[in-house]
Amino acid sequence: MDTKSRKDGTPSTTLHDRFGRKLNSLRISVTQKCNLKCFYCHREGEVSASHEMTKEEIAKIAEIACELGMKKVKLTGGEPLLRDDLPEIVSEIAECADEVSLTTNGVLLEKYAQTLFNAGLKRVNVSLPSLNPERFQKITEKDCVQQVRDGIKAAAQSHLHPVKINMVMMKGINVDEIPRAIDFAQDVGAILQLIEFQPIQPENYVCWKTFHCNPVPIENWLKEKALAVQENPLHKRKRYLLEKNGHPVYVEIVRPIHNSAFCQNCTRLRVTSDGKLKPCLLRNDNLVDIISLIRQGAKSNELKEAFKEAVMLREPYWREKNENPSQVLCKLSGTVRKN
Ligand code: 5AD
Repeated sequence: MDTKSRKDGTPSTTLHDRFGRKLNSLRISVTQKCNLKCFYCHREGEVSASHEMTKEEIAKIAEIACELGMKKVKLTGGEPLLRDDLPEIVSEIAECADEVSLTTNGVLLEKYAQTLFNAGLKRVNVSLPSLNPERFQKITEKDCVQQVRDGIKAAAQSHLHPVKINMVMMKGINVDEIPRAIDFAQDVGAILQLIEFQPIQPENYVCWKTFHCNPVPIENWLKEKALAVQENPLHKRKRYLLEKNGHPVYVEIVRPIHNSAFCQNCTRLRVTSDGKLKPCLLRNDNLVDIISLIRQGAKSNELKEAFKEAVMLREPYWREKNENPSQVLCKLSGTVRKN
């Protein structure tokens, strides 16, 4: 663990896992409830959930994470905007975090964007699997693409910047809409994130086999069109700068499957809606129960120990075959060890 001084003079600590990966962000699911029924949804890797956390419990977990150097906090669901106390949750977390952001399906965003900004929310990611009303309805079982579009515009107007549009790419479902989605992103001043479809829930495996779309040709197409290519430090995601009708627009590719660089550059820990620390989206066999400790009145130090335990359980899901922690560390430090 590093111990450094922050600008304001208070000490800050940064956790690293056994693979040398720094932990700087926390992704908290605040509910499993959702007002859409997207057939592709991975539900943040949760298979079953019991009671939701209270806003005080969520704020406590975020506070401990911030003290341990995880100062970027993202709230997810289900659909977080279904919680009436979301603005209060945001403002509590904004007291200790450098950045509070939100992932939403956008249906209720127009109503809440300004309130959330006033509460301290910095930015949003909005899921948008299709711009076509009929397709949107087929995918989500709700006829509300217009509400989502209005929500995205309201977020941009409320300075929740950058607004990112999350589009999970699915063969035969929405891949042909990518150029239109780029136009839309440019129109509203958002970044488009094209996300590889991941097979997380056991029951969506068959559907994944049918609709998974290889992102490589799409990435090559973007590369050809791009004026510049950048890299987001989180997961080393590539970001392409394109020009549409004389205006710039960024398109980011999220390509996790069989991608060891993606896992090597993962800096986040998750919290399930029922209060378990979750070291990896793709695993449920290494959760650390922090909510029971909170409910038993545990002290901050004990809660920090729970975080450290979860961090030590982190392993890159995708890595070279038989690669162990020291080999991954060698790669991270730029020295490739040959066996
Ligand atoms: N594969 C990849 N991304 C997914 N998301 C939801 N389900 C999947 C999946 N199976 C993305 C959505 C949402 C974010 C929380 O996760 O785009 O915005």
